[in-house]
Amino acid sequence: MSAVRAIVTGAARGIGRAIALRLARDAADHGGARLVLSDMHGDELQVLAEELRQMGAQAVPVVGDLSQSDAPLALAQAAQAFGGLDAVASNAGFGTFGLLLDYAIEDWDKIFAVHVRAPWLLAKACHAELKKSRGSFVITASISGTHATPPGGAYSASKAAAIMLARQLAVEWGPDGIRVNTVSPGMTLTPLTRDMYTRPGVLEQREARVPLGRVGQPQDIANAVAFLMGPDAAYISGTDLVVDGGLVNTLMAYNRSWKIDQPPS
Ligand SMILES: NC(=O)c1ccc[n+]([C@@H]2O[C@H](COP(=O)([O-])OP(=O)(O)OC[C@H]3O[C@@H](n4cnc5c(N)ncnc54)[C@H](O)[C@@H]3O)[C@@H](O)[C@H]2O)c1
Repeated sequence: MSAVRAIVTGAARGIGRAIALRLARDAADHGGARLVLSDMHGDELQVLAEELRQMGAQAVPVVGDLSQSDAPLALAQAAQAFGGLDAVASNAGFGTFGLLLDYAIEDWDKIFAVHVRAPWLLAKACHAELKKSRGSFVITASISGTHATPPGGAYSASKAAAIMLARQLAVEWGPDGIRVNTVSPGMTLTPLTRDMYTRPGVLEQREARVPLGRVGQPQDIANAVAFLMGPDAAYISGTDLVVDGGLVNTLMAYNRSWKIDQPPS
């Protein structure tokens, strides 16, 4: 792969961090990646930027809250100052869980602002540069965007909207040579989910539900994002790439240890 000029949001932790490291590694022997890193956590962003520089990448951290409508434009401007843009990983996200009956309007608005409005505004702000490079825009969605997951509250609805946003952009911007896709992670071990997985028995219980027998690691998702950004995905647009170890193809209380002659009780 040639040198990549990219924006990665939610880069301080988890999947976003893994995407930035993967892009830097891929471009290390090809002139180095030029990355605009976005997150609310400035200290962790600085640590990552330093790590990336040691790998031969150029990295510009931009600290900001993507629930604010002016934040995406600042990222596009930083990328422009860097000399252009080949790819965007619109990945920042969070969960405010609860039942929809009790869900607060502020929580609804915030989750839609970060998961749907921010990718839209970021895509808009990057359109001109991506058109020049015939670039790629990848949104991190979720299997929750296609499968209801109580107590997901507005999380599932916002991820469903993100998947449709990508499809709509793919149709509108195909003629400009811009590809737009989503990656939908399944259960993935990151700082977002770490507390849950440290509760006794939760990891084992979840591993047993996944046909491939483990929860995902941030690198599993980063690999899929890098693929969709790169030339091997030149004819892929408007697609949702599910990276979940086979989980969504299971129904009911699937368990890997089931045997045909020992049906679940
Ligand atoms: N971990 C999972 O199991 C899982 C599953 C499906 C989808 N996802 C999605 O993957 C993406 C990355 O999640 P992760 O698991 O790496 O989480 P994480 O918490 O480890 O990392 C998310 C990063 O996004 C940043 N972020 C959150 N809100 C932001 C905002 N308003 N402005 C700027 N930065 C913000 C956080 O500071 C954090 O660094 C999210 O969109 C999440 O919804 C995660």
